[in-house]
Amino acid sequence: MRIDILTVVPGLLHGPLDHSIVQKARKKGLVDIHIHNIRDYSNDKHRKVDDYAFSGGAGMVMTIEPIDNAISALKQEREYDEIIYTSPDGEKFNQKMANMLSTKNNILILCGHYKGIDQRVRDHLITREVSIGDYVLTGGELAAAVMTDAIVRLLPGAIGDEQSALSDSFQDNLLAPPVYTRPAEYKGWKVPDILLSGNTKLIDEWNLQQSIERTKKLRPDLLE
Ligand code: ADE
Repeated sequence: MRIDILTVVPGLLHGPLDHSIVQKARKKGLVDIHIHNIRDYSNDKHRKVDDYAFSGGAGMVMTIEPIDNAISALKQEREYDEIIYTSPDGEKFNQKMANMLSTKNNILILCGHYKGIDQRVRDHLITREVSIGDYVLTGGELAAAVMTDAIVRLLPGAIGDEQSALSDSFQDNLLAPPVYTRPAEYKGWKVPDILLSGNTKLIDEWNLQQSIERTKKLRPDLLE
């Protein structure tokens, strides 16, 4: 799959997307990620991408033209399944949306900044607005990085053990069971006996039971 990200702060995305699993997935050719600076599409001699709001008040608004230029240029190269705008107003990002987006071929993510973008971009160029939670970030870059990370790790082959993406928290609306590793006892803190039994059937049942109990206790809303 291919993910294009439009931003005025490319550095905020290079950090998170140039490391770990996402970096490996890029190297394996599972995902092609391109980060574009919206300023490169500005016709202004100072590469300006914002202006005052007609409605007044503090804060600048991202202008239409550079964004339209960037989206048009990319659309000429390929068709996008989704053109997403990151915004606290959007539909809440979750595992289901990550799964859905991981099946797409081409996704474009536009990161908001300043006070927001000219509403006409949202009305005419965007297919979906997505929020990563009910809080306001300085810009959409961290949201785009979060979404990209969650999507990329679902691509077949991105995670060494294919099972592990499937057994993640939220994959069945259940939290993941607790995990332990060696030593079996540390300062008197013991690993549950059943995990040392070698009986995979009982361990699978225990894991499921733990998942259900943890979900009931910590996130009962997921079971509704
Ligand atoms: N931009 C600013 N805050 C955001 C949020 N919570 N989700 C997505 N994009 C944002």
